[in-house]
Amino acid sequence: MYENLEELKQSCIDCKKCKLCTTRQNVVFGVGNEKADIMFIGEGPGGDEDRQGEPFVGKAGQLMNKAFDVVGIKREEIYIANVVKCRPPNNRDPEEDEIKACMDYLRNQVMIIKPKIIVLLGRTALQNILGKEYKITAVRGNWIEKRGIMYLPTWHPAALLRDETKKIDFLKDLKMIKQYKEGDMK
Ligand code: URA
Ligand code: SF4
Repeated sequence: MYENLEELKQSCIDCKKCKLCTTRQNVVFGVGNEKADIMFIGEGPGGDEDRQGEPFVGKAGQLMNKAFDVVGIKREEIYIANVVKCRPPNNRDPEEDEIKACMDYLRNQVMIIKPKIIVLLGRTALQNILGKEYKITAVRGNWIEKRGIMYLPTWHPAALLRDETKKIDFLKDLKMIKQYKEGDMK
């Protein structure tokens, strides 16, 4: 376990713990405020992210940025990471062995950042962080408290690109975060 993000990032950049290291262009470690109260967790890098080494810079990420603007969430107040740090070829789902190999990095990121709120973007983040028994369609938009952290599962932004009607839910969920934070400061 590392105590600071820079060291953790360096070990991640050198990582060859799973087969995704053979096809990646860049390791996508995560970005944002190291002291963020809110952490967003996605699934894994897509093509744009793999090329640029940054999470959520492609189409799904741009849509997420727009949603942040609408509700007034600032990029500088959050941290964004993924379950797996290297791109699964052809954007397939990450496989169990890859997730298992990679999850320690994410756990270590959470340990260092100590967010109050973790937003779980889609099924992969939800089931690997809270447990396989959770269904995204059942718990989306509901706060789940565990080990002193408030988790909020919501749709993965890529799902909004496929189904416009999910945008309403997504915005509603982001507004819940704002409301929670404002309540927290009173
Ligand atoms: N989808 C993800 O889950 N993560 C990214 O970083 C980009 C797209
Ligand atoms: Fe290492 Fe994770 Fe990349 Fe696999 S996906 S090589 S475990 S950093």
